[in-house]
Amino acid sequence: MGVGMEFFATAGKGVEEVLAGELRGLGIAVAAVESGGVRFTGEIADCWRANLWLRSASRVLIPLAAFPCSTPQELYDGVRAISWSRYLTPAMTLAVDCSLRESALTHSGFAALKAKDAIVDEIRDRCGSRPNVDTRDPDLRVNLHLVKNRCTVSLDSSGTPLDRRGYRLERTEAPLRETLAAALVELSDWDGTVPLADPMCGSGTILIEAALKAGRRAPGLLRKGFGFQRWPGFDPSLWGDLVAAARAEALPSLTGKIVGCDRSAPALAVARQNARRAGVEGLLNLAQRELRDFAPPPGPGVLLFNPPYGQRLGEEEALKPLYRQIGDVMKQRCTGYTAYLLTGSQELSKCVGLRASRRFVLFNGPIECRLLKYELY
Ligand SMILES: C[S@@+](CC[C@H](N)C(=O)[O-])C[C@H]1O[C@@H](n2cnc3c(N)ncnc32)[C@H](O)[C@@H]1O
Repeated sequence: MGVGMEFFATAGKGVEEVLAGELRGLGIAVAAVESGGVRFTGEIADCWRANLWLRSASRVLIPLAAFPCSTPQELYDGVRAISWSRYLTPAMTLAVDCSLRESALTHSGFAALKAKDAIVDEIRDRCGSRPNVDTRDPDLRVNLHLVKNRCTVSLDSSGTPLDRRGYRLERTEAPLRETLAAALVELSDWDGTVPLADPMCGSGTILIEAALKAGRRAPGLLRKGFGFQRWPGFDPSLWGDLVAAARAEALPSLTGKIVGCDRSAPALAVARQNARRAGVEGLLNLAQRELRDFAPPPGPGVLLFNPPYGQRLGEEEALKPLYRQIGDVMKQRCTGYTAYLLTGSQELSKCVGLRASRRFVLFNGPIECRLLKYELY
């Protein structure tokens, strides 16, 4: 693999521009912003740096081939035409992930299996033996993306998706995915010089991502590793240099206070453990508090939070008083702040009783959400 390679960093819908901004911030050349991700070019070291530093990306893919694909045979032939022995030896393990839509092939599990057969057959023909499949922790993850009967085959350089930073182990109520929380922090334009507060912080994801960003901590330093580290041709000394450079960037303290509250003691206990594992416990100020008693440090500052929004019938109605209270607290106690509220319910957001100055459409998993911006004078 040489200079001038092409890569594709994937992201949730609505996060693509944020991701492009992150790549540019790393000095990486953005080639195109597309639905679901950003195409970029560079050397293999840029791919590794992207994995180490990107906060809003889910995976960094290395596209190998794209071809028309309407039948199982076309899929098999297209995948088999790739010289897999450049990337895989019989001693390595393999997994194939597949996402598809608007195509003649409709079953992602079947498509993945067919592609796996083609890879394994190609290697066996060349090397005399075949690699084994390990869907849980493979040495090489291959990514198939099939849209409108066109199949793109990529290597997944990340391995485990990038939202698995490694700091979150216990489950709490409706935690935000780390990559989405990081995207919210980006969208809020919080620059680390003023306070940032999450009055309903749950397991602390927004606060931890904010602290990592403001503290210039590369989120990838928290992970056990990346897919590419197990590939043939991996250069540990180049990787060591990138890791050392990332470590040297970290700031020991921050100017702007990061404040988190929640009514739930167990959620706060988890937030503390997560923050400790993420190495940012000393940068957060956490307290158990009901929203009605919440007051942030004097403004200007940024409020960033995601209240519960209720997915089942009846839950929405029951949450209306909470959203009215959110509106009251913002109006009465958060003067000088810019507030950002993520919710999946337009009905509930109306109860806030304030006019949003901006809205961003984002997806929390499959749920379409709005990040609403309020200027609180
Ligand atoms: C959707 S969760 C937030 C998840 C969080 N962003 C995370 O990543 O873990 C909503 C949180 O609001 C808290 N909450 C609900 N009602 C509250 C209230 N009246 N006062 C304070 N916190 C409240 C819940 O305890 C829960 O942790």
